[in-house]
Amino acid sequence: MSFKASVQHFQTLVTSFHPVVIIDTVEEERVQGLISAACRDMQMAVFEWSIAQGLMRSPNSPDNRWQNEYAPPGARRGQALPKTAEPIDMLRHIQEMNFKAIFWLKDFAPHLKDAVIARQFREVAEQFSHNRSTLVISGSGNTLPAEIAHDAVYFDIKLPEPEELYEAVSDVVRVLKGRVKVELSPEDIHVLVKALQGMTLSQTRKVIAYAALHDGKLNADDVKRVLERKARVIHEEGLLDYFPAETNLAQLGGFEGLKRWLGYAKVGFTPQARQYNLPAPKGILIVGIQGCGKSLAAKTIARQWQLPLLKLDAGRLYNKYVGESDKNFRRAVTMAETMAPCILWIDEIEKSMGQSSGEADGGLSRRLFGYFLTWLQEKSQEIFVVATANDLSAIPPELLRKGRFDEIFFVDLPEADERRDILHIHLDRRQQGLQNFSLEELVVATDGFSGAEIEQAVITAHYRALYENRPADTTLVIEEIKRTVPLSITRREDIQRLRTLAQERFVAVR
Ligand SMILES: Nc1ncnc2c1ncn2[C@@H]1O[C@H](COP(=O)(O)OP(=O)(O)O)[C@@H](O)[C@H]1O
Ligand SMILES: [Mg+2]
Repeated sequence: MSFKASVQHFQTLVTSFHPVVIIDTVEEERVQGLISAACRDMQMAVFEWSIAQGLMRSPNSPDNRWQNEYAPPGARRGQALPKTAEPIDMLRHIQEMNFKAIFWLKDFAPHLKDAVIARQFREVAEQFSHNRSTLVISGSGNTLPAEIAHDAVYFDIKLPEPEELYEAVSDVVRVLKGRVKVELSPEDIHVLVKALQGMTLSQTRKVIAYAALHDGKLNADDVKRVLERKARVIHEEGLLDYFPAETNLAQLGGFEGLKRWLGYAKVGFTPQARQYNLPAPKGILIVGIQGCGKSLAAKTIARQWQLPLLKLDAGRLYNKYVGESDKNFRRAVTMAETMAPCILWIDEIEKSMGQSSGEADGGLSRRLFGYFLTWLQEKSQEIFVVATANDLSAIPPELLRKGRFDEIFFVDLPEADERRDILHIHLDRRQQGLQNFSLEELVVATDGFSGAEIEQAVITAHYRALYENRPADTTLVIEEIKRTVPLSITRREDIQRLRTLAQERFVAVR
């Protein structure tokens, strides 16, 4: 839904006598933008309230009727009404004011825990359900008492669309005119706006202003800065980690079968596929032994397809307020939708939506899981899901049923030629040339090792070489290999069980 469509949706709610609208966000700038845009057309006054300021005519309120000295008390802009800071006083005031307006109450939900305030609120809401006046509550985690939730509708503000981001960039450029040199071709602007997608307008203004003032220039080089900033912003939001395609250097050894599949699947994202009404690929699940490159595979897919990668931090979905995990999931998904086409990576899915977690938290993860399944089934956006799992027994069987994912892959311990690939990648990364190493010997010595264990042996050998001031070589790596007891030995039974379960049901990655 575009911003324009959300404005219309909001107007419809107001004109159809919805007395209470809940907007679950802390980004008041966006609520402000929505309300003023909606009220401009409708010629309605806007009041805003916060416990710190009290009630006042919103500085951006569109209606000009009450600007002279005959204006009713409080109707002039930017001036708080006396004695309206206390919620109960404010509500009584609104009830008596008796004119039609939008009353925007910031961070109001917690006050509704008080029985007297809740009652007064209901009376105002009741009055408003007969006219166009509306109470808008913004804030985060708006858990409402049941009797009030009954009268309320929830309203989602979408993240800004490219046109709005473009506007925000233009605003900043206008303000900084004379102070910075703008060197952006239409193509650069396109790339820049794309990079900004997923950020709010205020974040956009800040990052653009910073990028411009930092060196007095706004040019194509700033795209990288914007992407870095975005990664941080998204991380701070707390639900997703963002890996831009531009900085993704993942290198995956082996996995030939998966790589082949990805080659085919990529066609599914092309305009030709749309033309033939072929659906875009939905996603895959990669199940397998720990340390064998599942997480790395998720990064590699993003790299191969040159798409942004969003990693869902499943642990953080479980907000401390019970009942919010599905809301958090929805928020994360909304973010992903604005960045589509992209890859949504759910690492170790059994930990967030698994069966074992279901009992511990009163069915919370079950509900989240149900929500996830529906979303997976119905999502239309070009979001490709890559889920990974170590523990097959903890995954609800519904998830493994045909049609949920396009394919389920099984990752076993790497075979000889894959180990050669993996050794090559990790030795090469140490920048010392491969002439001191016999890959053949190392391949034999690492039989039964996971990719992670191979990497670890290579790293430790190089540390020792550095410490002993000599070049790393085969002998050093082999010594480290001999010192390692791999998981394939310490957890032999577990691995065997996983293998038997998975081999007959899933496609091998190689
Ligand atoms: N097939 C592989 N190719 C290259 N490196 C690998 C491979 N498998 C594992 N590794 C190394 O081991 C590390 C851990 O692997 P990871 O992808 O996190 O395993 P998993 O998610 O299966 O537990 C990777 O970051 C990588 O350095
Ligand atoms: Mg992993």
